[in-house]
Amino acid sequence: MSVPAAAPESSPPLPEATDNTASPASRLEQGEILFFPQLSFDLTPAEQALLNPDLVERKRKNISFDVQRERLSGVVDPDQQALTQQLLERYYHFSRQLVEELIPAYRGQLRQPTTSLRVHAIADWAQNSSWRKDDRRLHVDAFPSRPLHGDRILRVFSNINPKGQPRCWQVGEDFETLARRYLQRLRQPNPLHTWLLAQLKITKRRRSAYDHLMLQLHDCMKADGELQNGDSARPMAFPAGSTWICFSDQVAHAVSEGQFMLEQTVLLPIEAMEYPERSPLRVLERLTGRSLV
Ligand SMILES: [Fe+2]
Repeated sequence: MSVPAAAPESSPPLPEATDNTASPASRLEQGEILFFPQLSFDLTPAEQALLNPDLVERKRKNISFDVQRERLSGVVDPDQQALTQQLLERYYHFSRQLVEELIPAYRGQLRQPTTSLRVHAIADWAQNSSWRKDDRRLHVDAFPSRPLHGDRILRVFSNINPKGQPRCWQVGEDFETLARRYLQRLRQPNPLHTWLLAQLKITKRRRSAYDHLMLQLHDCMKADGELQNGDSARPMAFPAGSTWICFSDQVAHAVSEGQFMLEQTVLLPIEAMEYPERSPLRVLERLTGRSLV
């Protein structure tokens, strides 16, 4: 992996070169972003033609593909579905191979893959979003309808912008610092409420106390003007043609700029981690003094 040339002074800095003496698992699990400036995911000329906001159904943030069920969602034009699926399937194999080669211990442990193609410019999409869905606000990821019971959200991203525009993030303080900041405001779930959500199929299974805390943490962060307007976050620019990986349930992030990105999400049980004690579940259990799943 080579270190990229320095960005122009007016641009957000590229992600810093990290301590390469630590293992990729150790670096990821302590909340680093693994950045591969030269690792591009190349589109064929036909796939390039898909890069248009009109590809996705109105009101949808992205096109998504479930490789296990071979289910594609969000493409407006039936004539473009096969090519879009082929692109997303290729990206699934690319990102899975990348993670498994970097961290052989994760091989066979990655669950419920979802592949996404994002075609909207952040500014265009976010201006019509509620504050809760506005990814320009610093947050950690949590799924409202898919309770995780402590499983990690591991994400691979590739900037495929055809005009060379970077994808710009703000990256916040470490997970424990942020969790401590909001801990007093986080409430335990109401058992009747979580039962009802599952019965009504609003959630795919019953939310654990962990899921409830993570959703509140996500909301507290996005609603906190002091956090959003403060200077604790670092800007990072991911150039077109680069790839990066992080645990997005742990790395506080906000997207400030960019258009056209591929993203692979997989879940990882904490038992497969090299350092499970660094997981949000174990950190929150230590801070609250309670079992949360
Ligand atoms: Fe996010």
